[in-house]
Amino acid sequence: MKKITSILMVAVLMFALVVGTGCAKTSDNMIGVAMPTKSLQRWNQDGANMKEKLEAAGYDVVLEYADNKVEQQVSQIENMITKGCKVIVIASIDGTALKGVLEQAAKEDIKIIAYDRLITDSENVDYYATFDNYLVGQIQGEYIVKALDLKNQAGPFNMEVFGGSPDDNNAYFFNGGAMDTLKPFIEEGKLVINSGQVEMEQIAIQGWKPEGAQERMDNLLTANYADKNVDVVLSPNDSLAQGIVASLKAAGYGSGSKPYPILTGQDCDTTNVKMLIAGEQSMSIFKDTRTLADQVVEMVKAIVEGKEVPVNDTETYDNGVKVVPSFLCEPVFADKDNYKAILIDSGYYTEDQIK
Ligand code: BGC
Repeated sequence: MKKITSILMVAVLMFALVVGTGCAKTSDNMIGVAMPTKSLQRWNQDGANMKEKLEAAGYDVVLEYADNKVEQQVSQIENMITKGCKVIVIASIDGTALKGVLEQAAKEDIKIIAYDRLITDSENVDYYATFDNYLVGQIQGEYIVKALDLKNQAGPFNMEVFGGSPDDNNAYFFNGGAMDTLKPFIEEGKLVINSGQVEMEQIAIQGWKPEGAQERMDNLLTANYADKNVDVVLSPNDSLAQGIVASLKAAGYGSGSKPYPILTGQDCDTTNVKMLIAGEQSMSIFKDTRTLADQVVEMVKAIVEGKEVPVNDTETYDNGVKVVPSFLCEPVFADKDNYKAILIDSGYYTEDQIK
């Protein structure tokens, strides 16, 4: 029995040794990927894609999700620094909260790529890879203009506006792109915002939570739409659109006298693609996370190999301390008419996933 125990102990020790040395490979080979949360489909996909593509390129990957908690993300990044990651790719929770940990990274000469969301207030952000966030908003705005034929129709149409999480820099770009596009029609009186709420302080939903959007929509309907219908809701993304639809359903929308309003979104989450098909949501922006992951892998490779890092924008993303060299991928929209070509034929989803 004693012999078996000691054989077992030796085996455990050897296993620990193998695992241990596995982690201590040359730091040039190790890349950290810090994602904000598992609660939204897109970040799971982003994380999985990054891991798969980086591993295929020969890197070891430390992938972490932070449950939308800033302190958790900071300590995960600290661990990546300790482990000797050469590059850390970060989709931040609060873009303003990483200054301290990025100073530590800079001391170790670790390069930082902000992923999807800009990291602000820090000089230690080396690159930014994202989809063109202003364009996302613009496409949402243009979709509304076309769906209501605002260039020819006088309306007026009743609209309400939602904003993303106030700690996410992207939220301001989405809002800017959409509102710049819709502004002329609001000024002409073709679009009427009955609540009068358009400022980010009034419309932002903390943490991009569906429940937050549902609650605000409930309040808007009670206060402003007892005797009329809402015709358009500008939602910056899919998680908010889910909450908005839940509220609309509870208020009787989706029936003859109360058709669903035109409703925008972003991410093409499977839940929302089903909502497009069911006529509950009008469109969603498709940001192919495979494209973004491919781009980031190219950036990582260039950094590690000391080559010029590919960027295509050196003007737009000022993080308060510096303009961060960026690579912007192009988003497109999906709706019930084109989702098959965009999402199924491209192999992004299978038919079964959106049934
Ligand atoms: C991303 C969106 C996403 C939102 C909520 C934003 O920063 O760009 O794609 O819907 O965060 O997670």
